[in-house]
Amino acid sequence: MAPEGKGKAVGSVIIGSGKSLPERVVTNDELGQIVDTTDEWIVPRTGIHTRHIAVHETGTDLGAQASARALGLEAGGWLREKAIDPASIDMIICPTLTADAHFPSQAALIRERIGAVNAVCFDMSCACSGCVYGTSTADMLLAASAADIAAAKAAGRPPRPNPLRRILVVATERLSRLGDWNDRATCILFGDGAGAVVMEWRDDADGMLSSYMENTDDADHVLWCDSAFCDRPLPFDAVSDEAARAAAEAPCDPYMRMAGQAVFKFATSAMVRCIEEALSRAQLSPEDVALYVPHQANERIIRYAAKKMGMPSERFQVTIDHTGNVSGASALIALNEALVEGKLAVGDIALMAGFGGGLTAGACAFRI
Ligand code: UT7
Repeated sequence: MAPEGKGKAVGSVIIGSGKSLPERVVTNDELGQIVDTTDEWIVPRTGIHTRHIAVHETGTDLGAQASARALGLEAGGWLREKAIDPASIDMIICPTLTADAHFPSQAALIRERIGAVNAVCFDMSCACSGCVYGTSTADMLLAASAADIAAAKAAGRPPRPNPLRRILVVATERLSRLGDWNDRATCILFGDGAGAVVMEWRDDADGMLSSYMENTDDADHVLWCDSAFCDRPLPFDAVSDEAARAAAEAPCDPYMRMAGQAVFKFATSAMVRCIEEALSRAQLSPEDVALYVPHQANERIIRYAAKKMGMPSERFQVTIDHTGNVSGASALIALNEALVEGKLAVGDIALMAGFGGGLTAGACAFRI
């Protein structure tokens, strides 16, 4: 527990958490049969032993299962109190890089599956910062809606349409579909899965204490994946047949690409900077946080952050050993495992941090 008076309650409380991991577990040795790599190279460099790969599950399957567990409709999740009626969810926000369709949104597909009949839905593209961008955006929308409801009551007017009291944030990722299985520098890093939280506004409760988000230009394309549309020629282009043919035949790279060392450098500095900013905004010291729940990109990045913060590495939740990097879902999965395992209890302060393509980064502190 944070000392009395530390941290500022703003009311968005996590009332449910869930995760879903695909059935198929892929070992480092199996990857060694696909690309020129070994378990001996992967483990010390990344901390990854195995990852789950969605061979038959869709993003909707994974997202819907994580959500059902966060709502208490299916066993295996964490509930603050009791099961949550899906019809009480006002909004679904889905951070994802790998939606099953361009439209409907991934959030809308999950809505249909879980019966969240009153929810408005949208997706978010913020790569591996989805855990922080998703929950922070939900918190800001809940706070704005609560303020409007209170102002409307005081003024004797009806609140604005779409009042928000409960938001489901569900990140679902199948990075296995964006990875180049011939590129050993990236394919060994990523895994598939989904993580979800239900956030509820409470006037009398402690919840989200602070959040911080930032964006840096990726001018050198250190972390990049082109749109699958590429630049296909249109009938309106004033080009010769030959130029049109050349454009149509131009190589289209559908895979994500990463300059590993440049991203490593960005990640280590961004993670520490964002954690410090979230702590300072909540007037917390590093010791006040019971558990840091970072994005799982590389165990070495997590260990670096712990050392820089002067905290024992046990205060940082690590799940990358069995999940790999699940992009925006990583920290939500890690949070779920910490709650289910009892590493975090109601009243504790936790801090999530993320960084990734965009280049996005952020952190948020919250009381469970
Ligand atoms: O969530 C998105 C954010 N992503 C990240 O934060 C990832 C950040 N980057 C990293 O975690 C690390 O840079 C990696 C784990 C991706 C790579 O580790 P590294 O120590 O930076 O390796 P490197 O890229 O400098 O490569 C060193 C050597 C190279 O060989 P040469 O040129 O020295 O002969 C690579 O070709 O290791 C080679 N290599 C591999 N060898 C065996 C690269 N990937 C592999 C592999 N197996 N899978």
